[in-house]
Amino acid sequence: MDLAYSNLAQYYDRLMEADYPAWARYIRSLWQMFGSEPKRILELGCGTGNVTEVLLGWGHIITAVDQSQPMLEEARRKLGRHSDRLQLINKDMRDLALTDQDFDLAICACDGFNYLLDRDSWTRTLRGIAGCVKPGGLLLFDLNSAWKLQELYGQNSYAELYEDFAYFWDNHWEPDTGQCRMELTFFVPEAEGLYQRLCEEHRQKLWLPEDVNGFLRDTGWVCRGYFGFPGFEPPQPESERWQFVASLLA
Ligand SMILES: C[S@@+](CC[C@H](N)C(=O)[O-])C[C@H]1O[C@@H](n2cnc3c(N)ncnc32)[C@H](O)[C@@H]1O
Repeated sequence: MDLAYSNLAQYYDRLMEADYPAWARYIRSLWQMFGSEPKRILELGCGTGNVTEVLLGWGHIITAVDQSQPMLEEARRKLGRHSDRLQLINKDMRDLALTDQDFDLAICACDGFNYLLDRDSWTRTLRGIAGCVKPGGLLLFDLNSAWKLQELYGQNSYAELYEDFAYFWDNHWEPDTGQCRMELTFFVPEAEGLYQRLCEEHRQKLWLPEDVNGFLRDTGWVCRGYFGFPGFEPPQPESERWQFVASLLA
């Protein structure tokens, strides 16, 4: 079984159905709502750089971090022309240590923090971000909701056939760990009509708002807002994503 986002990286942009310009506009509305006018932005779990691309288009200076080298290679291929305002860093966000930096704002879009599987991972990540964001700076992130991980993903499986590959996505909700284990299997064509089978495993943990509030409090952050994505109201029982806005204590 390969690491998460090793095989998926080359297909990620084709499989994602998200409207990234709308996603970035939503994030911008939130930072505006909380009075931020960021120039330098730290992006965690940037993946193939879809939100990054929109932010660069608006003139921001971005440092974007991801632990998956294949995802970053896709980002580099798409965003290389912005190299004067973009730094891509291959790093685990739990080991950030960007102490010489001074960001106005940090973001993590599209459930990157669900990959933090224990309290220690959250603490390390949030302390690392706190160490390189200006006092009063904001942190915006979303999490997959209880309803999405337990019911929508649940024990469900999906399969899709494309001209040049096929994939299977099998979800396993584990009540004892509070995690959704996802097995992704790709069949990729090779010579003479043969297919190579590639498998990778993802684990996302369900974190409740009270957990998140505690992690933020323990690491020098204050939760300023909690919304049903992509709106500005509290989440509903069937919201798929929970959006958080936190600020760093001055
Ligand atoms: C669902 S993807 C989202 C990618 C991108 N933000 C987007 O909106 O398309 C989650 C990303 O988080 C990254 N990630 C997960 N855990 C990480 C960690 N500990 N450190 C850095 N990146 C991580 C994965 O490699 C992946 O690229």
